[in-house]
Amino acid sequence: MLKTIMSQHDSIRAVEWKDNHLVLLDQRKLPHNEQYVQLYSAEDTAEAIRNMVVRGAPAIGITAAYGLVMAARKCYKQYPSDWRVRLEAEKETLMSARPTAVNLMWALRRMCKELETIDGDPEGPMLELAQKIHQEDIEANYRMGELGSSLIPPSHAVLTHCNTGSLATGGYGTALGVIRSAFSSGKIEHVYADETRPWWQGSRLTAWELVKDKIPAHLVCEGAAASLMKQGKVSWVIVGSDRIAANGDVANKIGTYSLAVNARYHGVKFMVVAPTSTVDMQTATGNDIPIEERPQEEVLNVGNQRIAANHAQAWNPAFDITPASLIDAIVTEKGVVERPTPEKMAVLMAS
Ligand code: MRU
Repeated sequence: MLKTIMSQHDSIRAVEWKDNHLVLLDQRKLPHNEQYVQLYSAEDTAEAIRNMVVRGAPAIGITAAYGLVMAARKCYKQYPSDWRVRLEAEKETLMSARPTAVNLMWALRRMCKELETIDGDPEGPMLELAQKIHQEDIEANYRMGELGSSLIPPSHAVLTHCNTGSLATGGYGTALGVIRSAFSSGKIEHVYADETRPWWQGSRLTAWELVKDKIPAHLVCEGAAASLMKQGKVSWVIVGSDRIAANGDVANKIGTYSLAVNARYHGVKFMVVAPTSTVDMQTATGNDIPIEERPQEEVLNVGNQRIAANHAQAWNPAFDITPASLIDAIVTEKGVVERPTPEKMAVLMAS
């Protein structure tokens, strides 16, 4: 029953395999234009990831998996005797498209492990696995939606950051999936969403998803978050993640860390929602997570319009690290880790 209600809030798909190629909803054009990009090669797929046609850690991983399917098809046809060697280079192109979201590396490693078991034409089995990775992500999101929602007491509203919805995942969403589930089950009646500078994932993407789902929401400037918490307007801050280190430190969209600091100060709870494909047990702490720095023009301009003073410069890290000590709960499809520690993370990942 809950799943039926939840699926009423799950109509958007940003990544789709059609016949023999990949179709991406161009997230740079949203919300005012719903345009799709057709991709037929791994190079173009890597470019689409780099340029933010598709973004959000799980969506990037799924996209890269489909990209590798197209690379496998090309290499097997064009270089039948050494297609595996050629494919390695294409995998590296995909792997280096963005550095922080570990789902990208996770999906490609999983695909490559499968390759070792394949003898003949790799396209069919590779596509089957990419579709499985996609489907598993959607199922994980539904599970996390239930688990995360169960932590929230009936309250007026929650605050979220960036876009963690259907657009950022295989479908439904991580943090936004929890919000969708909490709204469906009557736990919350309102959402505050940070606009999320400099890419405006909140204003352009999260607001678009919430409006489509008829979930009442207000956008806020990031700078308004502390006042929102001080006035007691939100019970939880709920965010996603691009990579979770073995000690429970979390990399997520720049601005997440200051939300966590503010939440702790104001007695607001802080939840991170991410599938276990986002957990990187090979990375000991947040200090070891590579943080992508993007072009300063993204801060100095809005679209093609220069906003900053001429000759002004900008620093543009795309992500920051929230220490585990500021996190009340990490919600994964395998279960919830409250107040994460290295030991609790190890138990979760071994389960
Ligand atoms: O730069 P982006 O838009 O790819 O950043 C996305 C985020 O930071 C999300 O919060 C994160 O990937 C989790 S998405 C389910």
